[in-house]
Amino acid sequence: MSETKDQLIAAAREAATKAYAPYSDYQVGAALLFDDGAIITGTNVENASYGLTVCAEHVAVARAFGEGRRGGLQAVAVVGPAGKGDGAPVTPCGRCRQVLNEIAGVGGTDPVIYCVGDEQVREVTLSQLLPHAFGPAHLE
Ligand code: THU
Repeated sequence: MSETKDQLIAAAREAATKAYAPYSDYQVGAALLFDDGAIITGTNVENASYGLTVCAEHVAVARAFGEGRRGGLQAVAVVGPAGKGDGAPVTPCGRCRQVLNEIAGVGGTDPVIYCVGDEQVREVTLSQLLPHAFGPAHLE
């Protein structure tokens, strides 16, 4: 898994180079790993109307749904810009946790999230980040 983890983090890092973040100058990349080995990435996309910004994780999940994926999410890597703030690992924002929970929930997985910082990678599960989540199962 360590090689896959490194690949996933590298994919998120590469995605971050494509971020459209002219307002915050905070480039984020996200990479989703699926059970067939596929990796789908996303970047944050900001807007002159600031509140319309979408996060990297959200873009990645939307791309995955758009490609027909309905579950199978095994792992996620999230990478921010190096040398910003205190360099702590970037954890998905609250909205992104809920968005990730949708694609995890439809497939019944609890993906590990690699939150990448300047010097450390924090590994947590989605259910640790979003305990007692509201998800698709509530609507069955
Ligand atoms: N951002 C993400 O892409 N993902 C997160 O989980 C946290 C924040 C983006 C949104 C905005 O473009 C920039 O980071 C600063 O908040």
